Parts: sequence; structure tokens; C-alpha cells
Amino acid sequence: MNVVVCVLLISTIVNADMYFHNPRGCNDRLNENTRARKNANRLFDSQNNNRGGYNVGPEPMYYLTGSKLQVEWTNQHSCNDKNSFCEIIIQYMCDDNIRDGTNTATIPLDQSKCANQNCNLDTQYGMHENYDFYMQCYLRERNKGLFTADQNMKGRETAVSTRQENNGKNNRYGYECTEERDYYPYWHPSPWKDVAVLTNNAERCKYYTTESANVKERWICYFPTDKLKEMKDANVKYIPNNKEDCQTFTFPANDANGVKGEWKKVPAHGIPAPVCRETQFSRDNHLGNGLDGNPNRFNWTIPEINEDKCVLRIRYNISTKDYNGWDTNSSMNADKPENPTKLDLSSKYGFQDQDVAASRGYVFKGDPEVKIFEEGTFNFRLAVDTSQFARTFQDRTHVFSIKKRPNNLKGATIHNLNVRGKRGNIVQVYPSVEYDFVPNTLVMAPGEYVHFQWTGSDTNNNNNDGQGKKGSDRNNVLLLKDKNYPEGTGVQYGPPPTLGHYGNNYPVHLNASGFLGLKKNDLLKLAFLDPGNVGVDLDEASPHFDLGPRQVSQLGTYHYVCTRNNNFSNRDQKGRILVSDLKFTEAPLGWLGGTITLPGGVGSVHVEEGVFESLHLIRLEVRPRGQGYDQINIDGRVLMVGDDYVSDFLVIYPETSLAAPGKYMSVTLKVDPDASNVAIYRTTAASNFETWTKLETDIEGDTAMFKASSGGVYVAKSHSYKELILALVLSSLVLVVLVIGGACYFKRNPSKWKKLKSNTKNVTRNFDNKV
Ligand SMILES: *[C@@H]1O[C@H](CO)[C@@H](O)[C@H](O)[C@H]1NC(C)=O
Ligand SMILES: *[C@@H]1O[C@H](CO)[C@@H](O)[C@H](O)[C@H]1NC(C)=O
Ligand SMILES: *[C@@H]1O[C@H](CO)[C@@H](O)[C@H](O)[C@H]1NC(C)=O
Ligand SMILES: *[C@@H]1O[C@H](CO)[C@@H](O)[C@H](O)[C@H]1NC(C)=O
Ligand SMILES: *[C@@H]1O[C@H](CO)[C@@H](O)[C@H](O)[C@H]1NC(C)=O
Repeated sequence: MNVVVCVLLISTIVNADMYFHNPRGCNDRLNENTRARKNANRLFDSQNNNRGGYNVGPEPMYYLTGSKLQVEWTNQHSCNDKNSFCEIIIQYMCDDNIRDGTNTATIPLDQSKCANQNCNLDTQYGMHENYDFYMQCYLRERNKGLFTADQNMKGRETAVSTRQENNGKNNRYGYECTEERDYYPYWHPSPWKDVAVLTNNAERCKYYTTESANVKERWICYFPTDKLKEMKDANVKYIPNNKEDCQTFTFPANDANGVKGEWKKVPAHGIPAPVCRETQFSRDNHLGNGLDGNPNRFNWTIPEINEDKCVLRIRYNISTKDYNGWDTNSSMNADKPENPTKLDLSSKYGFQDQDVAASRGYVFKGDPEVKIFEEGTFNFRLAVDTSQFARTFQDRTHVFSIKKRPNNLKGATIHNLNVRGKRGNIVQVYPSVEYDFVPNTLVMAPGEYVHFQWTGSDTNNNNNDGQGKKGSDRNNVLLLKDKNYPEGTGVQYGPPPTLGHYGNNYPVHLNASGFLGLKKNDLLKLAFLDPGNVGVDLDEASPHFDLGPRQVSQLGTYHYVCTRNNNFSNRDQKGRILVSDLKFTEAPLGWLGGTITLPGGVGSVHVEEGVFESLHLIRLEVRPRGQGYDQINIDGRVLMVGDDYVSDFLVIYPETSLAAPGKYMSVTLKVDPDASNVAIYRTTAASNFETWTKLETDIEGDTAMFKASSGGVYVAKSHSYKELILALVLSSLVLVVLVIGGACYFKRNPSKWKKLKSNTKNVTRNFDNKV
């Protein structure tokens, strides 16, 4: 019999990587100038491509407490898409012993190999989790309820072995605990504090936010680390992972003088539960930007702590839909590694029962051969690796600090403005990225602070393209020259005046116009980095730069450039800052809903659970009447503002439909207290402000309340009876004219009548145009 075996790649999940870009992810790199990292086991198990990661800078970045940091990453295998399950978990950890290390070796397990027999303090080795944490994991019985498919645990029945890493005993990654890495929320203590959980299924958020170790204690069968070491040397199989067994466990066993296990409570971290929501959408096999053309991101508000040494961690848990890992447990495991798992695929693939499915090869096991046609002899081999359904990827930053903000900045809004990327062209840096400012467009209000700070390294691959000294990263910031050609009327990206233009590559000489209203000295620092002679390519300056927080006073839309990396036609590095005095609030709202309120309570949007079916980045903005605002300019469309409105204009972005069919957001808008007969109208920039819709409105005191399903421009208008009668008379007149005129017209042009009939909807809506 001729059996032709074809390899059908049903899922190339093998490359579903996850990389931090801001703050810079290390992907286990330190300072090696090779394209590939030297040691994938150095600190943690990333499962990423060896080429990923950024090298460490000369000194750590720092972030001020309460400041806003835009965290950016790329993940390769879709999120918030129907094709797969996806969870993204962002966590941080701070500890005085955390360090990047000075060489690329993995920290030893054998303490005698470290200075003073204490690896926790041997600073040549990078370390995140510590030895004590690892030893608990190394000896703790693994969770036997987990689905391990047909993976062979190779005799090590402790938390270093999992379905994804069945050889954890020999394959150690720093002092990371394999089981803790692969599962979240983890059931034993962990030093990681949760920042955010982003999930395809926001219904799981309640589970995440109540089970997070931020808010819920953990328990452990506690032994001092030197006892654990003795147990390891004595080849103890494992220590228990549950209360009952822990309390009867003695080491050495059956020794009346032995040490007993202590079932010990480890309190919750005592910080707020993590943010939980949907991720932004990303597509399969695409290590790049999200739907809006920008990287998928999370805005982290830096916690109120004062810590010298912290790291940020991101994990990406991805699975196909062949089975649901969330309700599959050890009862589905294979009896022996050579047997298939007991997962029943029959109903999924339309077989009458599991036996029939199995007879055709439809079983969940490594590289199954399926017989697609009942007749014939053709089998297909599927590339299934049961250690990779689901699979977790990871990246971590180098060490950074969190500093208490100075007293004079109490209550101020501080925006971190950083640089991502590294030296080289896109092929040389991939899967890292070329240089860019983060956030690329920063929106801020006058009086708020911007904190310019970045780092790079001098240890990039010497063959990577770029300006200045080989292997070096440098960045600077200079305002670009203004536009050279008119750009049509009405188009205005941000608040006036517009300074600098992306189309130019020459910076403006600094005393021609101010940049953010910064002092001359700061402008010089942003341009030259150091007071000394840094050379035309900034080679003599440090790759790390910190201007410190600076208050921004001057309104405007600023376009700036990094002159060093702006090798036009190869690469550019430009950014934009909008300083706007418009009151606005932005927030991502998803299935869980939430409330967004404008400063001063001018307006608000409340979204109940289930009203949104997916994540929307909502921006609420108020455009005042009067006070010099005689027109509203939105996306280049101009609405002339009369004086007969009884509220400011409330803009909800995006303008598109937001709520699920039949569901609504509840919106409030302040109206003038003495206004009567108030109604709310909606229009859109997309309609050129020509289509207006009247909405049912409740008025309570000075607040109008109404339901809306879409974004757009909302405003209140008061109708006096005189106006109403006038409007009625006018519209009847118009109607009469239309009917008579129309009758004559269509008599002469009968073909037009047909066309009009198909457009009648527009005709009715046009009557609403007059507000
Ligand atoms: C596995 O899941 C099944 C069905 O949900 C449940 O009945 C069983 O108790 C679980 N077994 C373990 C070991 O958790
Ligand atoms: C990954 O998903 C699986 C379910 O497929 C779950 O058991 C596990 O806890 C998740 N791990 C992480 C790190 O999110
Ligand atoms: C992050 O914050 C910025 C500025 O407020 C905002 O434009 C952006 O939509 C936010 N992004 C997310 C994903 O929350
Ligand atoms: C700009 O980039 C090209 C290609 O990498 C390089 O040949 C050239 O020297 C660069 N220009 C400067 C001024 O460094
Ligand atoms: C810049 O300012 C200095 C002193 O304020 C002035 O002497 C110089 O002419 C100015 N240069 C330009 C190009 O405007």
C-alpha cells in the first residue's frame, strides 16, 4: 500500500512572538553585538526569535510616580480576533537585588559557583526572580490537575515541568518558575504585580480582577531556602502543594526531629486589581501595527512607589481553537506519551463518535495523520505540537526605576516621551523596530508636563546601517521647518499655530519660533544632549538622555525631528506634539463598559456592560461656543457656530456606530440653565455637518440626558414657540414650492423621478437639516 504523507501546516504558531518596544524589551539580551542574542536562558523563557530584543543602556530609565507611560509591543499571532484565544498579561516587579548583570551567562543554580556562595547577590549575573523563589518551584509538586496532553514530564514531577516545557529541570531560564510562567493567575505566591490583563473575552475580567494576587492572598508549603537546598541534595521527590499534605510532611521523612511543613499565608500585594479589558485587534502572522495604523498599546499610569530597580513583563498566551484550554484538565491527558489525548474531537469535525473520529486520525496528539476521504489510501500529516497548543510568549524590559515625583509637581499630569527602536534598517533590526518617538503623537493640555527621556546602546551590531559611530544609538529633538506649500483650506491637524512640517527635513533655527514654550537652555539640551562638543552626529554624547519633566505653556501643533537618524530616503525619525486647551478625556471602553467624564462635568458618556461588543478607544471632547470659537473644525470640516445654541458642542470620537444593535450609551451634556424647549441634535463631520438628527432628550436642571448609539457632534438647541411656528410655516412653504416645482420638473424629465424615488430617504432627512 502506498501511503503518501503530506505535511499540512495548519498552524505555524511556532513564530507567534511577543516583543516590547516601549519600554525597550530585552528578549534575554544584555550587550552582545551579535544579531542573535547570546543566551536565551539568561533571565526568562521568551520563546521568541533569537534576533529580537534591545541591548541595555548605560544607565536605567526612570519614570515619575503617576506619570503616563505608553507601553508598546508587537505580537505576531492575532489578538481580539476570532481565529484564536489570546491573553496579554502585563506585570511589574521591584526589588533591590534585581539587576541586568554584566555578562550574558545564566545565573547558576549551584550557589558555590557564585561570589560568597550567594547568587542572589552576585551582580555579574542578571537576576529578576531570586533563588529562594526558584527553589520553592523546583521542589513543589506540580499541579496534577493541569492538561499536559501527551507530553512526557520526564520524571520531574515538580513545578519546573509543564506541558509547554517538559524538560524544565534541565532547561532552566534564570530563576523563573515554569509553572508560574505558563499559567495565570498563578495559584502560588509570585513576586509579579499585575498591571493589566488584556483578553479576547472580557467576560473573564471578573475572574481575573478577583483572583489577581494584587487583591487575593496565596498559600505556600513553606520551608527556609537552606532546607530546600538540603532536600534537593537529598533527592527529595517533591514538597506538597496543598495544605493537608503539607502539614503531615516532614524532612527528613519519618524523622521525629525533622522539620515540618508550614502551610503559610502570603498576603495579597495590597494594590488595586489590574486593569482588564479587550486587547486591540491584531491579525495573524503580522508582527506589526494594529487597526489604526499605530502599534497596539497600553497606557500605564506609574504606581505610587519609590523603587530603584524594577522590570516590566509582558506575556502573550495564544491558542488555536482546536480545543478550549480553559475547560480542559488532566482528565483528558494521554495515558502514555505514545497514546493520543482523550480530547473528543468528534463533534467538532462531524463524526458520530470519538471512535470513528479516532479511526480517521482525528485525535489530539503530536503530528497526527488524518484520513480526509473515507476511500483511498491518502493520509495527511498535520504539524501539531501539543506543547504549543496553547503557548505563552514573553518579553521583559531591562531594569528601570520608579521615582517619587518632586513636591512641586504634585497633582500635575506628566507625559513620558521616549524613543523606541535601534540602529539599523528594517531588515537588520527586525523583529525589533526602527527608531520612533513614543507616543509618536502626544496630545497634552497647557500646564501639563512632558518628560523627554530615552536610552539606546553603543553595542548594536557594527554592520547595522546608521549615522555616526558604528553600533551606536543617539537621538535628539529639533523643531522642523514650517510647511513650504499651502495645504488647502480648512485642514488643520491640531490646535493652531502649526509649527514644523513632516514634509521637511531641515530643522528650524531655534530662535525663529518657540518649541512648546521651552527655555533656550532646554532647546539646546534637546538638540545637543550634552553641553560639550558632541560632534555633528552626537557621537560624544551618551545614548541615555534625560531632560526631566518640563511644563508646557504654549498652545500649538509641533512637528519635530531627530536630525541624527533622519537619513532621508532611508529612514526618518519624526514626532508630533499637540498642545490643546480643548477639554477632552480619552479611554478605552469594551464589553465591560464604563464611564468617561469631561473635566468640569460638561459632559459624560456612560456605557453599561454588554453595550459595546468590542473595544473602542473613546475620546470625549468639548468645543465651546463663543469665546473666539466662531467655527468648529473637525477632521478638516468646518461647522460655523451661530449664537442660538444652548450648550457647548460635545464631540464623541469615533463618529461611527459604537453600541451593539438596539443598545445605547447614556450621554449627559450641560445646557444653559434658563433655556426652554431644549432638544439635542446630532451631526457628523462625515456628513459635512449637513445631516442633523433630533434625539429624545430628558432635561433635569441644567443637564440634558439622552441616549446615543454612535459618536458624532452633539449640541442642545432651544426652540421658542415663535420659532417653531415659523419653522412650520417655512417648511410648509418649502413643501408647496417643492411639490409644484417638482411636478413641473418631473413632467419634463420623467427619468429623474425614478432616481429620486430611490433616494427619498435623503429627502426626508434633509428636512431635519435646519437646526
Ligand atoms: C476535570 O474536569 C471535569 C469536567 O469539567 C471535572 O468533572 C473533573 O473533576 C476535573 N478534574 C480535575 C482533576 O480537575
Ligand atoms: C494560557 O491559557 C491557558 C488556557 O489555554 C490557561 O490555562 C493558562 O493559565 C494561560 N496562561 C497564561 C500565562 O495566561
Ligand atoms: C493612551 O492615551 C492616549 C493619550 O491620552 C490616547 O490617545 C490613547 O487612545 C490611549 N490608548 C489606549 C490604548 O488607551
Ligand atoms: C545615509 O544612509 C546611507 C545608507 O545607509 C549611507 O550610505 C549614508 O552615508 C548615510 N548618510 C550619512 C550622512 O550618514
Ligand atoms: C537669533 O537671536 C539672536 C539674539 O536673540 C540674534 O542676534 C540673531 O540674529 C537671531 N538669529 C536669527 C537667524 O534669527
